[in-house]
Amino acid sequence: MGLLDKHGVLEKNATLLLAGSLLVVTIGGIVEIAPLFYLENTIEKVEGVRPYSPLELTGRDIYVREGCYVCHSQMIRPMRDEVQRYGHYSLAAESMYDHPFQWGSKRTGPDLARVGGRYSNAWHVDHLTDPQSVVPESVMPKYGFLADRLISPKYIEDRLKADAMVGVPYTSEMIEVAKADFAAQADPDADTDGLLSRYHDANIGNFDGRPGISEMDALISYLQVLGTMVDFSTFEPAPSR
Ligand code: HEC
Repeated sequence: MGLLDKHGVLEKNATLLLAGSLLVVTIGGIVEIAPLFYLENTIEKVEGVRPYSPLELTGRDIYVREGCYVCHSQMIRPMRDEVQRYGHYSLAAESMYDHPFQWGSKRTGPDLARVGGRYSNAWHVDHLTDPQSVVPESVMPKYGFLADRLISPKYIEDRLKADAMVGVPYTSEMIEVAKADFAAQADPDADTDGLLSRYHDANIGNFDGRPGISEMDALISYLQVLGTMVDFSTFEPAPSR
C-alpha cells in the first residue's frame, strides 16, 4: 500500500480525518505557543529606553485625557515614506513602558513618535495655545487653558506605583523622591543631578515660561521626550534569531 493509498483511508473516513486534523493543529499550536511561556520577554531590549520621569508621566496622562491620540499616532511604520518624514521607524521597546500604548489609528495631524526636540518649548506653547498662529491651515483645537491649570504632584507616588505594578521598573527610590523630581524638572534653577541620574537626558526647564507648574509644563515635558530615548546614531538592530 503506497503512501497515497494510506492517506485515502483518512480521506474516506470523516471521523478519522477530523481526529487527524485536530492532532495536527494541536501540534502546530503547541510549537507556536509553548516558547512564549519560557521567554521572559518578547520585546528586544534596547539601550536608552527608560521609564518616564514623574513630570513626563503626568504630561502623558494629560495627553491621554485630552484625547490627542484621536488625531495623532505614535508609531512610525518601517516604510520609506514614513521613515523619511518622521525618522527611524518605531521600535517595540520604545513603547514598552506605555500603559496604555499610544500607537493610535488615525492621523488627522502628523505622527508624534519622534516629535521630541523637533521644536522649542516656546514653539509648543504658541502652538498649543493657538495652533493657527504658527500653522495657519491647522485644524488642531486650542489648548491654551492647560497653562492656567496649576498642578501638584499629590498623587505622583501612587501613579508611579501603579505603573510599577504592571512591570515598569520604577525603583523604590524613584517612587520615594517622585515629588522632588516632579518639581525639579520644571525648575531651571533646581539641583537636577539626582533627577538626571534616574531619568537620563530629561529636559529641564520652565516649559511654558510662566510661574508655577501647569498642565502645559507637564505636557510639553512629555512631548519633548518622545522618540529621544534611543540614540539612533549608535543603535543596531539585534540579529534576527
Ligand atoms: C482635531 C485633531 C487634533 C487634535 C485633537 C490634536 N491635534 Fe495636534 N495637530 C493636528 C493637526 C492637523 C496638526 C498639523 C498642523 C499643526 O501643526 O497644527 C497637528 C500638529 C501637532 C503638533 C506638531 C507636530 C509636527 O511634527 O509638526 C504637535 C506637537 C501636536 N499637534 C500636539 C498635539 C497635542 C499634545 C494634542 C492634545 C493636547 C493634540 N495635538 C491634539 C490635529 C490635532
